[in-house]
Amino acid sequence: MQINDAIKKGTGKDVAIRGWVWRERGSNKLRFITVRDSTNVIQCVVVKDEVSPEVWETAQKTPIETSLKVTGTLREDKRAPTGFEIGVKAIEIVGESDTYPITKDQSPEFLLDKRHLWIRSRKLTAVMKVRSTVTGAIHEFFRSRGYYEFTPPIFTPNACEGGSTLFEVKYFNEKIYLTQSWQLYAEAAIFALEKIYDVSPTFRAEKSKTSRHLTEFWMAEMEAAWMDLKEVTEVAKEEIRFIIRKVLEKNEAELRFLGQDVEKLKLVAEKDFPTITYTEALKILKEKSKMDVEWGKDLRTVEEDKLMEHFDTPVVVVEYPKEVMAFYKPADPKDPKTALCFDMIAPEGYGEIIGGSQRDTDLKALMDGLKKEGEPIENYDWYLDLRRYGSVPHSGYGLGVERVVSWLCKLDNIKDAIPFPRTMLRKSP
Ligand code: 4AD
Ligand code: MG
Repeated sequence: MQINDAIKKGTGKDVAIRGWVWRERGSNKLRFITVRDSTNVIQCVVVKDEVSPEVWETAQKTPIETSLKVTGTLREDKRAPTGFEIGVKAIEIVGESDTYPITKDQSPEFLLDKRHLWIRSRKLTAVMKVRSTVTGAIHEFFRSRGYYEFTPPIFTPNACEGGSTLFEVKYFNEKIYLTQSWQLYAEAAIFALEKIYDVSPTFRAEKSKTSRHLTEFWMAEMEAAWMDLKEVTEVAKEEIRFIIRKVLEKNEAELRFLGQDVEKLKLVAEKDFPTITYTEALKILKEKSKMDVEWGKDLRTVEEDKLMEHFDTPVVVVEYPKEVMAFYKPADPKDPKTALCFDMIAPEGYGEIIGGSQRDTDLKALMDGLKKEGEPIENYDWYLDLRRYGSVPHSGYGLGVERVVSWLCKLDNIKDAIPFPRTMLRKSP
């Protein structure tokens, strides 16, 4: 049985658990072997005088990460983190362990080299549980609202977010790219399914060494026919609140273990998230942070962080300057200098968690935009067809799964939000 099930049985009950040695110490009369499994850790106490010589001997050969089966009696122990320990009757070693290379106080780089082992740590186990809740919540959120899951191709001839971060792959005797976003294909699929979403791998050749950028990450995107910018920002806000509530419901223990302020997060989940315009954001930066940003420049990380010092929930920023936005973000007819687009920025320095927009339906504007980005129009002919055959207004966005996990788990670096991180400087194990 798993450790948490054993604990549920209660004091005095016989239990049989299996797992891995997490810590061990002892004397010539007593051995304390703390065992971990996916659910918890529990201290197992072996008393020389109370077990057979064979069991005592086995209990001496349990270095860290040995896998084993333990049977014994559950009893209360006020000092134990779980409040319980096991008085051992028998131990069976399943897999011996060499001297485990990970000890206390090792450098982040060493832990990344040993990632295949470090993912067993309590920290990464907690993060991976939260991550599983986050992606599960995304599926639940959209499915329960009548969206279909739609999966995009990963090999693609097109850039969606500009050529400079495309990964080129040899495709027989030609070249192709790894997807930067499902969006262009989603825009094709809404003509069949109307409301769709996905959670899938995404690739960006980011020459960036920040704590927010991965080269391989998971994006959860949605696209919906007939939807405008205002409506789509409301979906994004609701989705984030839904995710937080699910994580609080399922992972409160993990959040506390990771040092997250659970009470604060509960408040965030119940609050309305404000929407401000880019122009208002510049005004806040100027007035409250004494920071001058020239109108027309995209917000950089430093500016996002400064802006968020004045908010305790995520904020939606709309209407960025059209000039610096991707080709598919349409000019606002009421103010053509700005685009009908938005970013959602997380508080506490976690930056942009969502990017999205209404989509341009004007064929000529799209072609001009692609030309301006230096894209070969012929590769996009299929996409432009979507504006030729019964086009409709539509909108969508992409949520960075690791950005959200980093924020909810209060991580220092986005690398810990994904089991095997890929960055400019890290591609193994
Ligand atoms: O803002 P982005 O670039 O938007 C798009 O790709 C749109 N085509 C999405 C859409 O409208 N369907 O990326 C969306 C989100 C960002 O807000 C960020 O959270 C995350 O993806 N993201 C990254 N996460 C980790 N590492 C990177 N290098 C990321 N780049 C973007
Ligand atoms: Mg963006």
